[in-house]
Amino acid sequence: MIKPILAINNLSFQYDKRSNHKNIDNISLAVAEGQWIAVIGQNGSGKSTLARIIVGLLEPQTGQIFVEGIEINEATKWKLRQKIGIVFQNPDNQFIGTTVQDDIAFSLENINMPYKEMVKRVDWALELTGMGPFRHHDPSRLSGGQKQRVAIASILALKPSIIVLDEAFVMLDPKSRESLISTLLSLRKTENISIISITHDMNEATAADHILRMKNGRIIKSGTPKEILQEDDELAAPIGEQLRRTLKKRGYQVPDSYMTEDGMVKWLWK
Ligand SMILES: Nc1ncnc2c1ncn2[C@@H]1O[C@H](COP(=O)(O)OP(=O)(O)O)[C@@H](O)[C@H]1O
Ligand SMILES: [Mg+2]
Repeated sequence: MIKPILAINNLSFQYDKRSNHKNIDNISLAVAEGQWIAVIGQNGSGKSTLARIIVGLLEPQTGQIFVEGIEINEATKWKLRQKIGIVFQNPDNQFIGTTVQDDIAFSLENINMPYKEMVKRVDWALELTGMGPFRHHDPSRLSGGQKQRVAIASILALKPSIIVLDEAFVMLDPKSRESLISTLLSLRKTENISIISITHDMNEATAADHILRMKNGRIIKSGTPKEILQEDDELAAPIGEQLRRTLKKRGYQVPDSYMTEDGMVKWLWK
């Protein structure tokens, strides 16, 4: 097996230490280099808590986290956590620069990147997120979707090994969502970035190599998008699959397995 970039062993966490309810209940998982993992599950199932523990905003109470094979502890955490970036749902209040490009450059200045390299990285991140034309704009005055793209550009500029997206695409219109997803898909190949995306959007989950479904702080299902989404009526399936199920219920002869939108369109045209 490929060496995991992130490995979590028997992780547990609870906000209220007096209760006997664990918000994260004995979770183990591994993410390979360049792998895209989607995490789904109802509100309150522990997705954001898990994300906060992974990026170090919360300390786990039991269990271990390994990044590139090295355990996160007091001595290693500062260095290892630089390899993990997170983007939240609401990008407001996370801007520091007065222009988009200054904002992206800020985190690079923080790690003392040489000026020439910094300029290159900022240009690269602006290009990838389609925010080049807005580089001199005030980030606080952009639309919700544009702000989110700046937040994503700031994380990409750091070239982390792992990006955690906690419902980061919610504010985006479908078109920018699609284009960012395809940008991230190609970055996995060129930069070997691993992605953990927490999402309610089943089209986004379908882009993943693997889906984890959480409930009550536990992982209750783990598999490929096909395995997880097929015939799982609790989930809002992508449009192609919804159509397949409706046609099947009405007695039409449809393929038996899970279908993406593209797959459905091709099948309908036959
Ligand atoms: N800061 C907090 N203090 C106390 N309990 C919290 C806090 N944040 C979340 N919780 C609780 O932890 C559980 C998991 O929440 P969360 O990780 O936000 O779930 P999700 O992101 O899947 O919606 C929920 O029961 C929630 O009420
Ligand atoms: Mg959440």
